[in-house]
Amino acid sequence: MKHLLATDGLDAETATAVLDTADELKHTLLGREVKKLPTLRGRTVITLFYENSTRTRVSFEIAGKWMSADVVNVSASSSSVNKGESLRDTALTLAAAGADCVIVRHPASGAAHRLSGWLAEAGTSVVNAGDGTHEHPTQALLDAATLRERLGSLKDRRIAIVGDVVHSRVARSNIHLLHTLGAEVVLVAPPTLLPVGVEKLPVTVSHDLDAELPAVDAVMMLRVQAERMYGGFFPSAREYSISYGLSERRQALLPDHAVVLHPGPMLRGMEIAHAVADSPASAVTEQVRNGVHVRMAVLYHLLASEGAAA
Ligand code: CP
Repeated sequence: MKHLLATDGLDAETATAVLDTADELKHTLLGREVKKLPTLRGRTVITLFYENSTRTRVSFEIAGKWMSADVVNVSASSSSVNKGESLRDTALTLAAAGADCVIVRHPASGAAHRLSGWLAEAGTSVVNAGDGTHEHPTQALLDAATLRERLGSLKDRRIAIVGDVVHSRVARSNIHLLHTLGAEVVLVAPPTLLPVGVEKLPVTVSHDLDAELPAVDAVMMLRVQAERMYGGFFPSAREYSISYGLSERRQALLPDHAVVLHPGPMLRGMEIAHAVADSPASAVTEQVRNGVHVRMAVLYHLLASEGAAA
């Protein structure tokens, strides 16, 4: 694997190899006081973030450090991007400075793919840490890792993805990866928050959350992305919460084994009730924990495994 740009097109064998490596790393480090492996000693990983992040940026930094890579964090707001430097020149600068891997988050869909083209000559790997409304592949991988832990195989499992699908790169990456791993995906959202061309995706669509919940193995609540709703939020926050929020009443409709996921940051009280987010069914904290091991596994497959240069 040279880059990780999307789960659309990521084959089951590669995805499973990353998930198995993450699982192995998690068990290797379990209970260890010093969480440090020598695997990426001498390699340089740069995170380049043009949008805010807590989970993704921090977990990539920890993942790199736990594997002994040198990790450098570049935030667009405090870099020469603020003086007008282009994404291409920024990327070439980071490669010239010695980056073996650039992890990029950018508001434009396709930015990570463009970066991989510009950095081909330098041989620098690129990881998409979220590009516009397009994809967030490591989020989908950590969600799959969490579901595998809770449910075992994903084959024939039914997963509901609920809420602001149209603006969600998390939803898009999960739709492709869950389908590749054999799960059935149902999107539950108002018509205004579904993407054009949804009928071409490997999903079924519902507008009735109460009707779907009794038959799912997991429910993935999405963040409502107000920052991408230039024309205002429709339906209103109150209408959204009534129709699509995961309340305690709704949680009671789920089967006992069902898992509740949220990629974070959560808008508690609107997308998900406090009590549901903090309930035993909720895997939100496990998602974050697994994010470190999954990102370690991604860096391993990009920079250290036998197939790294393929
Ligand atoms: N889930 C996720 O991408 O969170 P951050 O925006 O905090 O990285």
